[in-house]
Amino acid sequence: MVHEKSKQKVIVSGARPSGRLHLGNYVGALQNWRRLQESYRCYYFIADWHALTTGYAESHEIEANSREMLIDWLSAGLDPGRAVLFRQSRVKEHAELFLLLGMITPLSWLERCPTFKEQLRELEGREIHNYGFLGYPLLQAADILAYRADAVPVGEDQLPHLEITRDTARRFNYLYGKVLPEPEALLSKFPLLPGIDGRKMSKSYDNYIALSDPPEVIREKVRRMITDPQRARRKDPGRPEVCTLFRFQQIFNPEAVPGIEAGCRTAEIGCVQCKDILARKLIEVMAPLHEKRRSLEERPAYLEEVLVEGERSAGEKARATLEAVRGAMGL
Ligand code: TRP
Ligand code: SF4
Repeated sequence: MVHEKSKQKVIVSGARPSGRLHLGNYVGALQNWRRLQESYRCYYFIADWHALTTGYAESHEIEANSREMLIDWLSAGLDPGRAVLFRQSRVKEHAELFLLLGMITPLSWLERCPTFKEQLRELEGREIHNYGFLGYPLLQAADILAYRADAVPVGEDQLPHLEITRDTARRFNYLYGKVLPEPEALLSKFPLLPGIDGRKMSKSYDNYIALSDPPEVIREKVRRMITDPQRARRKDPGRPEVCTLFRFQQIFNPEAVPGIEAGCRTAEIGCVQCKDILARKLIEVMAPLHEKRRSLEERPAYLEEVLVEGERSAGEKARATLEAVRGAMGL
């Protein structure tokens, strides 16, 4: 079990339950989360309430998606013995803090949030002119402040939400006394992993390789991957710097990169061979994750136990914060 060392810094991060994760999630967030659990007190949660802000009509999918994501988390090395893993919706203090913070948050902070405006445009077909959707960043603030987090590992897209979190903490402390520390953003400096078509890897573009894709699917997707478009014939020299596949070699197969780079520029190796090298490597890197997944799929009771224990531990911490919050407000 996790032993709390009082001086250990607190890290909080969450992810919406998006089902099975892909390699972009793995190199972008998961590997970072796994490293952080070695030296920080980490609270990692499944943001199932956040999923409702845009996906309220598909609420029945959340449970299965949460389970798949948890399996990927554990397969990729998140360790319930080191990090607190839990479902947001099972720690009701998130909701209480959200409500209280809602009383002191100017509407304009939420209305001008760039992610709000952007999503309204992007999800045009979907009715999301809802109170819950507007409040998304404030719910996120509550998630973070409930644990008095020192830092939050996030991608660049989440910086506006961190800003609102800090502004809200500052306003609370100004009105009621210093209770909520202002968390820092821990920007992960990872290069974005492209998808097999060269755009950002994303479920919605259908250009991803899932952590759970079996070897034959990995092979097939790697075969379809974009390479140097000007390298039409086997004897043409290639340009690794414009090749999507080469980005994958750099991230997953760094030892082989010098040889591949030279071989590509001199046309000593061809793209078919290069793809074979990458596919083998990805299959090798994913093999232990697949094995872990298989064993976890057979242990639903264990998965539930991990979450329930996480929820107990998270609840304890969040309750202490809420007591201080209520106290400061005189409630
Ligand atoms: N908004 C985050 C995302 O879309 C998910 C999230 C919800 C989160 N609450 C959080 C991330 C608290 C960090 C901290 O990825
Ligand atoms: Fe890309 Fe490899 Fe082909 Fe070079 S040989 S263009 S690096 S796939």
